[in-house]
Amino acid sequence: MAGRIPQSFIDELLDRTDIVEVIDTRIDLRKSGRNYSALCPFHSEKSPSFSVSPDKQFYYCFGCGAGGNALGFVMEYDHLEFPAAVEELAKRAGMQVPEETPRNPALEKKRKSLYDQLEKTQQYYLAQLRQHPKKSRAIIYLKNRGISGQIARDFGIGYAPPGWDNLLKTLATTPEDKDQLVAAGMLVNREEENKCYDRFRDRIMFPIRDTRGRTIAFGGRVIGDDKPKYLNSPESPVFHKGNELYGLYEARQASNRLTRFIIVEGYMDVVAMAQYGITNAVATLGTSTSQAHMTKLFRMVPEIVFCFDGDKAGRKAAERALETALTEMQDGRQIRFLFLPEGEDPDSLVRSEGREAFESRVSNAVSLPDYFFNSQVQQVDMDTLDGKARLSMLALPFIDKIPRGVLHQLMLDRLGELTGLSTEQLVSLRSEKQSVPAGRKGPWQDEPPPYFSESIETSEEIPESSKTRAKQKPGAKNCSIASFSRHAITLLLQEPAIAGSIDFPGELRQTKDTETELLLELIAILEDKPNLKTAVLISHWQDKEAQKQLIHLASKERLLSDLDSIKKELEDTLNQLVTQIESKTETSIDMLKTKIQNRTASKAEILKYTRLCQQGTETQK
Ligand code: UTP
Ligand code: MN
Repeated sequence: MAGRIPQSFIDELLDRTDIVEVIDTRIDLRKSGRNYSALCPFHSEKSPSFSVSPDKQFYYCFGCGAGGNALGFVMEYDHLEFPAAVEELAKRAGMQVPEETPRNPALEKKRKSLYDQLEKTQQYYLAQLRQHPKKSRAIIYLKNRGISGQIARDFGIGYAPPGWDNLLKTLATTPEDKDQLVAAGMLVNREEENKCYDRFRDRIMFPIRDTRGRTIAFGGRVIGDDKPKYLNSPESPVFHKGNELYGLYEARQASNRLTRFIIVEGYMDVVAMAQYGITNAVATLGTSTSQAHMTKLFRMVPEIVFCFDGDKAGRKAAERALETALTEMQDGRQIRFLFLPEGEDPDSLVRSEGREAFESRVSNAVSLPDYFFNSQVQQVDMDTLDGKARLSMLALPFIDKIPRGVLHQLMLDRLGELTGLSTEQLVSLRSEKQSVPAGRKGPWQDEPPPYFSESIETSEEIPESSKTRAKQKPGAKNCSIASFSRHAITLLLQEPAIAGSIDFPGELRQTKDTETELLLELIAILEDKPNLKTAVLISHWQDKEAQKQLIHLASKERLLSDLDSIKKELEDTLNQLVTQIESKTETSIDMLKTKIQNRTASKAEILKYTRLCQQGTETQK
């Protein structure tokens, strides 16, 4: 594993790279005005909505919302992970990527030896399946489950023999080896009791491999009826459940032209399907599918089919998967849901009905939009007007999570058909998000839905200039805080250089609003490095959720061209923002005051009241 590449290197790399050149060698760019345009390489289209800005040094597609700096482009277009994309651009720029600067060289060395130990462990379990005196226990079990010798070899299935110290005695011959096996999760160390023993005993062992084929962890299944049925390696420096998928390495070995992955629940499902010729199944490791899982798979294929048991647990899992999937639904990506008959899992089903029947189920799996609307409609009474209104309130927050693009629009249209509301009406419902009771629970979440607060707006929501701005409606306050903050971010992204000449008001720190916090982060970076270009700035949010939003904001059309007016607009926006923040504070002061008068205020609330009053008098000075 590469160490972290220092941000300073990335800053310099982007500074020395011309995004136009990088993209131009890959797709056909045409000059149009200040920018370049092309047919978007990330979704199919007939007229160009893909644009590259030499000033901002980044690209954006108005069709599908794809966007980013040169690194982001190379990652997406060449299907590269971040370090490989850095390598690629560094080569062009004639720069040497700093020697994998491990933050801690000792740690890097340790990781390497963990891989070695895990490989030795893997070889050990394989050998036990061939030669241990009790091997027939395991072999009979595998036979009974219909696993062929060939598939057992492909997946490296092994056997951890019964007993507490087999691995310990064989592999932990030095104190260092022992420590590493403990770190890798293969040995359990109980220091208090001065005990160290094998984690996996009398279990069928499934090695979990990373995409390079290195063994990074194991899943072990009991042969009898002991609990737990499956035991997984704990998290370790080389194994993070939320990133890894069982069977991914094997799937890539089996075919180099994968077009879709099927996500199933269990080790045995992956193995059985592969044995029947369905070699593109992968499984999460006893967790639900994470965003990282999906990102990883979508780098390799355009389609994911989730396969769930037909029972209640399966439905619940599907709902969770759907939620995670929405934010990943860029145009060109497809997700479908397959529900199996009750009482069956992929393992049992593929064995009983064979490859073709199973594959036709996969091909007929329900699409994400169909699944989404079916399950939403079931929650309301569609015969009443009230039910339809409720449907839009339920569905909108979810649709809002889908990146702007064709799918997003199709989903809105479909919601419109179902509810009889026009897209404009739906969009206006969306902008009245503040009026949605904040505590109400979404259909599938334990948390209240994020009523669009973290969304990327497409409808331009630039606050009107101060002169024409009417008084804000009460209750629209948070909304304004967010939108003023976004506008300030937009201006800063478009012209980072103005940051140096602005005094940023301290009141910004008084709100916990997500957008304002993002604005503060941006300001902090610019205070430190005032000369960063937009594209470089954005790279500071690599791998963070907020990056998408920043890219979107940076791509907004620039309405003002000269520095002075941008600066003025920013100052103006900041003033408005401060006013909003203060008036919000006032409301809560009023509320606290009433509580205190009614003698219902808690001690903490009284303290808060006095603190707020003090702050108020200070800012007025
Ligand atoms: P299931 O209980 O559905 O079992 O677990 P299965 O895959 O059908 O297993 P077999 O057919 O009885 O052998 C599905 C997945 O959930 C995780 C494992 O990853 C398993 O493959 N799991 C299950 C655990 O991590 N621990 C458990 O105790 C059970
Ligand atoms: Mn099973």
